[in-house]
Amino acid sequence: MSKELIRLQDVTQVFDGETVLDHVNIYFNDSEFLTLLGPSGCGKTTMLRIIGGFQTPTSGDVFFDGQRINDVPPYKRKVNTVFQKYALFPHLNVYENVAFGLRIPKEAEDGSREKIKLSKEEIDARVREMLEVVSLKGFEHRSIASLSGGQQQRVAIARALVNRPRVLLLDEPLGALDMRLRKDMQQELKRIQQRLGITFINVTHDQEEALAMSDTVVVINEGVIQQIGTPEDIYNEPKNAFVADFIGESNIVDGIMREDKVVEIFNRRFACLDAGFEKDEPVDVVIRPEDVDIVSEAEGQLRGVVTAVTFKGVHYDTIVDFYGFKWLIETTDYCPVDSRIGIKIDPDGIHVMKKSKYSGMFGDYSSYSEEYDEINDPTLVEVDEEGRDDEE
Ligand SMILES: Nc1ncnc2c1ncn2[C@@H]1O[C@H](COP(=O)(O)OP(=O)(O)O)[C@@H](O)[C@H]1O
Ligand SMILES: [Mg+2]
Repeated sequence: MSKELIRLQDVTQVFDGETVLDHVNIYFNDSEFLTLLGPSGCGKTTMLRIIGGFQTPTSGDVFFDGQRINDVPPYKRKVNTVFQKYALFPHLNVYENVAFGLRIPKEAEDGSREKIKLSKEEIDARVREMLEVVSLKGFEHRSIASLSGGQQQRVAIARALVNRPRVLLLDEPLGALDMRLRKDMQQELKRIQQRLGITFINVTHDQEEALAMSDTVVVINEGVIQQIGTPEDIYNEPKNAFVADFIGESNIVDGIMREDKVVEIFNRRFACLDAGFEKDEPVDVVIRPEDVDIVSEAEGQLRGVVTAVTFKGVHYDTIVDFYGFKWLIETTDYCPVDSRIGIKIDPDGIHVMKKSKYSGMFGDYSSYSEEYDEINDPTLVEVDEEGRDDEE
């Protein structure tokens, strides 16, 4: 079932002497929903443009179905793209926007001179089918201007799918939508992908979106693939401190692997599930905020002082200072600021990672709690744009 469809082999992209993609090796399977995830500027759009044929890489090869396609122009690739800016034709109605690409005569697959023109009936059947797929049945004659942002995005998706590409590339397609609509469209995109059974390669910088929609998530930073895996793998078994920090909230502390399944943090030994490290190897240790249990000081494996508490609805975000290192703990137990607490962590709540160039850069919540201090500080009065403060 998981057959390889696209492969980037040792792809490097340099712009103005700056390496934007650095020896990227990755394959994309047929019928999978894959998301390229990373901060702005990490090279996601560039990778998508290379797959689409809009950009020729500085070095390396692109394969489609086993064929090298470096020199195949975009319109001859079985790939279509949906951009964040929908670029619909404002003077055409919904139907004509979707039908547009079908009305252009196409070269035949066998390379013969004769161009293929679809019949009126064929075009009509395909347009109606796609409008049904994106839940816009009955919108055929509506003008683009009369549609909401979410509906316009659906038209753009129908237009990209109506040519029956093998792969749909989506470059931050939900970026312009508000949060509520974005959540709905995430489900919608997943449903469309499953129904059509084609490959979707989606780009986002939103980790929640990547986890919610994808079969496979590819985490990228500075033009280098950091990790490829299922959403569960990426969340539960991050490869390095960058991934752990970028995906969800993480406390990341220095540790020493004393032996298989025993890691030392703050001079205390903790049972964990990790093995295969050198004896006494320095490591990074990730502890997710939801995996820490608050207990009495006497019972705790570690003891600390609460420095900030924020009610989040289901739980309290509680910042706790352990020997100068601040952790975020999500707990349903309310512990007021300045209380002294103990914590316990189960072996499966501890994840040990190799040291990397990102060690020591992430995972301490000192600045996080300062933000909260500011929000909670009644002496700081907010001033709005007209220069009035909130008290008036
Ligand atoms: N055509 C180009 N010419 C020069 N620099 C580019 C070009 N396209 C992208 N870049 C640069 O490459 C880097 C990666 O860009 P991009 O792939 O768009 O990142 P992302 O989509 O992850 O935000 C950025 O520093 C960007 O300025
Ligand atoms: Mg981009």
